Amino acid sequence: MNGQPLVYLDNAATSQKPQVVIDAIAAFYQKDNANIYRGTYELSQRTTDLYEGAREQVAKFIGADRSEIVLTAGATASLNLAAFGYGLPVLRPGDEIAVTAADHHSNLVSWQEAAKMTGAKLVYLPLDLGGKVDVERVKKEQIIGKKTKILAIAQVTNVLGTNQPIAELINLVHQAGGVAVIDGAQAAGHLPVDVKKLDADFYAFSGHKMLSQTGIGVLYGKKKLLEATRPLFFGGEMIEEVGLTSATYKKAPYKFEAGSQNVSGAISLGSAIDYLTEIGLDKIAAREAELGKAAAAGLRAIPGVRVYGQGGGIVSFNLAGIHPHDLATALDTQGIAVRAGQHCAQPMMNFLQVPGTVRASFAFYNNEEDVSALITGVKEAKEFFHGLR
Ligand SMILES: Cc1ncc(COP(=O)(O)O)c(C=O)c1O
Repeated sequence: MNGQPLVYLDNAATSQKPQVVIDAIAAFYQKDNANIYRGTYELSQRTTDLYEGAREQVAKFIGADRSEIVLTAGATASLNLAAFGYGLPVLRPGDEIAVTAADHHSNLVSWQEAAKMTGAKLVYLPLDLGGKVDVERVKKEQIIGKKTKILAIAQVTNVLGTNQPIAELINLVHQAGGVAVIDGAQAAGHLPVDVKKLDADFYAFSGHKMLSQTGIGVLYGKKKLLEATRPLFFGGEMIEEVGLTSATYKKAPYKFEAGSQNVSGAISLGSAIDYLTEIGLDKIAAREAELGKAAAAGLRAIPGVRVYGQGGGIVSFNLAGIHPHDLATALDTQGIAVRAGQHCAQPMMNFLQVPGTVRASFAFYNNEEDVSALITGVKEAKEFFHGLR
């Protein structure tokens, strides 16, 4: 990039893809491509088996049953399905939806809209300075209580990489009689996830952030909750019987998968899951945290750099007096790809009282040289900007 070897540190936006995943996509189009469910012929059956096999792999990956796995276009589509398919029919005026300022717009705005349409209200859970939910205060002030119908929160936040205390929060919302919708976009593929152990009611994530292609994602939902969820799209194989004025739909998860599905996406996700599982999610979590910590320590040692937080492979920071976009552009000239701005989390920027941050996000395939490149890059950028003064 810009005549330099690429140092890719924007893994929280999307990951790079290993050769096995690229090969799996190519092999599908070379050997198996047909539409699923529709054909009585061998090739269509084989493609259907591959697609359903991927659903099975996803189920195993997060400790669920295959009937609880809806394949979607990504985390945003999954969260919209939870908000509008499940939320709209159950929310009533005065009901509360517990969220946090640290959440991604895909989660926040979906629930804002569902609240507007139903008369429900968003309640923001208190955060400590590190952006973590203050569970003691939530308990003491009974912020999650009888009115809470839904808790909608990220397991790992995308600006600071904060690992939220979701097990405790899920417990609290269940005691209150509500359901927990967990945004796992920054967690799946980065740490072991077991939706049954967590007792999550819904769990959303994207394939492209965990080595597979874009346009594929997952909404896990407990069986009885998925049955209570309305489809958002209609037509194609989600149909059971169609009359002139109404129709009936298949059972979950099929009733949510209208139209021709992203078969290569599902296959690439299955292949990514195999790859990640073989390495081991515990090992991946430890490695990403190690790189994130090393980067945060190196950045903190540079006078003028403020690190707002680091969790796992995610580090958000700023250089005093320099706009995050300018710093990211200076890093780009050195081949270092980081994200700068608001990270689809404007309320979090207000919480941090900054217009934006620079975010470096490491994957397990990054290494110490990438950490050094970032630190040297920031030092050089600092000298460059100070030279302009
Ligand atoms: C925490 C979180 N939630 C949701 C999303 C949305 O994911 P996608 O754009 O893949 O739908 C992202 C993407 O950055 C994210 O980081």
